[in-house]
Amino acid sequence: MNNVSEAANTSIPSASSDATARAGDIEREVKRRRTFAIISHPDAGKTTLTEKLLLFGGAIQMAGTVKARKSGRHATSDWLDIEKQRGISVASSVMQFAYDDCVINLLDTPGHQDFSEDTYRVLTAVDAAVMVVDAAKGVEAQTIKLLEVCRLRNTPIITFINKMDREVRDPLEVLDEIESVLKIKCAPVTWPIGIGKRFQGVYHLLNDEVLRFVPGEAKAGQEVETLRGDQIEQLAKQCPAEMQTMRDETELIMGAGAPFDLQEFLGGQQSPVFFGSGVNNFGVREILRALVDWAPSPLPRETDVRVVHPTEPAFTGFVFKIQANMDPNHRDRIAFLRICSGKYTPGMKVKHRRTGKEMKLANAVTFMANERTRMEEAYAGDIIGVHNHGQLQIGDVLTEGEALTFKGIPYFAPELFSRARLRDPMKAKQLQKGLRQLGEEGAVQVFEPLQDSNPLIGAVGQLQFEVVEHRLKSEYGVDAVFERAGIHTARWVTCADKNHLGEFVKANQARLARDVDGNYAYLADTGVNLRLAQERWPKIQFHATREHGQQLN
Ligand code: G4P
Repeated sequence: MNNVSEAANTSIPSASSDATARAGDIEREVKRRRTFAIISHPDAGKTTLTEKLLLFGGAIQMAGTVKARKSGRHATSDWLDIEKQRGISVASSVMQFAYDDCVINLLDTPGHQDFSEDTYRVLTAVDAAVMVVDAAKGVEAQTIKLLEVCRLRNTPIITFINKMDREVRDPLEVLDEIESVLKIKCAPVTWPIGIGKRFQGVYHLLNDEVLRFVPGEAKAGQEVETLRGDQIEQLAKQCPAEMQTMRDETELIMGAGAPFDLQEFLGGQQSPVFFGSGVNNFGVREILRALVDWAPSPLPRETDVRVVHPTEPAFTGFVFKIQANMDPNHRDRIAFLRICSGKYTPGMKVKHRRTGKEMKLANAVTFMANERTRMEEAYAGDIIGVHNHGQLQIGDVLTEGEALTFKGIPYFAPELFSRARLRDPMKAKQLQKGLRQLGEEGAVQVFEPLQDSNPLIGAVGQLQFEVVEHRLKSEYGVDAVFERAGIHTARWVTCADKNHLGEFVKANQARLARDVDGNYAYLADTGVNLRLAQERWPKIQFHATREHGQQLN
């Protein structure tokens, strides 16, 4: 008997009225979901905003909970210790809370020393992003990188310009920088009245009201004082210079820029902009409202065969992150699965697309910021964690039987490269095996240079090397050290004309390698070298990403 169809039959009631009720349930639940990530450069205020969003959402009772974890993580570079901490805080990777009848999933984008390919991949599992910009620093490097990833899927972006209580830069200048550097149109929704010590609050352009800023950590639940009509005129008498500047600037904006347009936001072309001060709880509620009112509920997802709609009754989902060794005594891993359609119920049986095998989702972990509440069901937009022993890889798809593969979960061109040097040369075979498996799992990317038998390991964050070094030792008994290789970046190469690709390969043997799926990757020593190669070989396409499991050549 086919257990998968049996599972499908048991989970879909046969009576059509029940089926209709279930479809209605799914539709209602999907509509309430908002799944997003915060993108920012280190120190812009992501942790602070995360914490405040959780406080406002009632998911934590006390400020400092998220922060404590962050500082804890940074106190150690020992991966095991980091993992031990994570063992008790898996939920921190995905924080779910309710706000105004919406179920909000906030996915953590690991930053600082935790920056890795996972950081990028998390962005493939969200439907929107909040971009935090430090008003004193403007657009910074990591934000640029993360926004590029959001752009791959035209993810809608809400912008929060933070730290207005400090002596920061001219807001018009910051806005201009966002538009020119990130190439996204800005639609200010709030505008600051004064900055730093003279920061009075913000004017809400859509509601024609002023939200007053009170320095010091106001209570999360406390209503912000809101001024309208005559009250705004009163404020203009109290701080005429700040109010006049605000009026001049908003006039300029409204004259020159386009007003907020929901469709443009949903298409990823325009970002509503909010000014605030996360640490003072100021502007946080507006971000939550923007998420609830404007951010999309889970979107349809493209696959190799058809588009999957989130309200379809059959369960589908894909793995976007693997977390290994939660408990060092066990070799189990947690695969983070983004649900794309249907309903998850504990114990349900699903089919693993890549191997064709059946899996029971009996011990899936569900994530609640309030860990005491156990979630018994999950819908599109939600994330579940599936315990496994290495069967699941990044990009893998679980369905109730249908054979499909989701698109848009790419590998990203590594930015750091190393070679593994064995301390014990007898362990070459184990090293090969370990690297292959860890490469398949997505912990790092492994490249085999055409002219060198020593594999190159590619990553986007240093932590990935530390993790792999540690896991090679503990799981494969291989004592290896990673030595940095002088490579700037990799680009996957393709060409419609196979003969031409052959010529390119012949002429560039020394710079080419094959990835885990056998695709050619061009390894550039420098940015200049890459540009020269692109100029010399205009018919060859150089790709910064590639889909999982995709055979390019
Ligand atoms: P991150 O996760 O993006 O790295 O940033 P995080 O929230 O940790 O914030 C970085 C620093 O900026 C912290 O200061 C934090 O308190 C501060 N900060 C965040 N939002 C605001 C704001 O609106 N106004 C001001 N003035 N500061 C803000 P820190 O000194 O590194 O830590 P702490 O000792 O203050 O906790």
